[in-house]
Amino acid sequence: MAKQREIGFGVVGLGMGKHHALAITNARSARLVAVCDVDEERLKQVMAQYGCRGYGEYRELLADEEVEVVAICTPSGMHVDMALEAVALGKHLIVEKPVDIRVDKIERLIEAGRNAGVKMQAIFQSRTVPLHRRMKEAISEGRLGKLIGVHATLPWYRKQTYYEGPHGSWKGTWAMDGGGSLMNQGVHTVDLVQWLVGRVRSVMGAFGVYAHEIETEDTSVAVLKFENGEQKMLRLYGPKEQVESEGVSSDPMAVGASGHQGEVEDLVEAIRTDRDPYISIESAKHAVEIVQAIYESGRTGREVSIAH
Ligand SMILES: NC(=O)c1ccc[n+]([C@@H]2O[C@H](COP(=O)([O-])OP(=O)(O)OC[C@H]3O[C@@H](n4cnc5c(N)ncnc54)[C@H](O)[C@@H]3O)[C@@H](O)[C@H]2O)c1
Repeated sequence: MAKQREIGFGVVGLGMGKHHALAITNARSARLVAVCDVDEERLKQVMAQYGCRGYGEYRELLADEEVEVVAICTPSGMHVDMALEAVALGKHLIVEKPVDIRVDKIERLIEAGRNAGVKMQAIFQSRTVPLHRRMKEAISEGRLGKLIGVHATLPWYRKQTYYEGPHGSWKGTWAMDGGGSLMNQGVHTVDLVQWLVGRVRSVMGAFGVYAHEIETEDTSVAVLKFENGEQKMLRLYGPKEQVESEGVSSDPMAVGASGHQGEVEDLVEAIRTDRDPYISIESAKHAVEIVQAIYESGRTGREVSIAH
């Protein structure tokens, strides 16, 4: 069988972007062409590790004609602005979670991507976990009977140092992270729940900051009402003593790259066969709507409806 042409990828933002570089390198029919970061040390390290080109300016990465897909792994509040520049040049996209911290910007991107005819994929790698896929199948086929409630918790903890230093200062801010533990880490669980159970109609939520010096929150709880009538209790963070453990629950970089690799291969296939990616940007918007509704409910003390 003839070998398929490899699709050229570029990665911007080399924190989580390092995992993308690994995932692209390991993926079938994908090639890491170039990486980009304003942090020269990170840039040099990844260029040396993968033997790829490197740029200190995003526009230089975009101007590289061999870059057909841009993986956006910069702080969450920058995602859509960067994505729109890429789409304007006809580049396909992978965008880290959350797609952005503002729903109106995500909607703008969906429209721009549709008009440009490019493929746009969001990273929500929990949806690729085999157990989660089996759960989705079982629920969709009605094998669990009528769902009357779902309970989800995410007892992860980030040390205070996570929020400090040159790559920590945007984290836990309203302006760039769009929130704290809920928008940054909890959004994985929020997405999983809406993906498994269905769209959310309204939310009652509360949040606070108990174990960190950040302006947003490190603990949140919510009750979600679903469009199909179900209710669910969502507890997203616990106090430090309950949750100190090894792995991704306490170390953000302990997340593996296999889910990302699966998503890269899926996007390559979507480009080749002109279909939507398995995890489209459109499908990743609702998680951000839910998180924002939880924050609004926490601020106002009222139940918040999510308009569709
Ligand atoms: N899927 C996951 O499990 C997962 C895990 C961690 C982070 N993330 C997501 O990845 C994104 C980045 O998070 P992180 O923890 O890696 O943050 P980080 O701060 O460690 O990395 C972001 C990088 O972007 C670079 N950068 C900032 N502005 C830039 C610009 N204008 N041009 C080029 N580079 C620029 C920074 O120098 C930094 O190296 C966030 O959206 C986050 O939610 C996803």
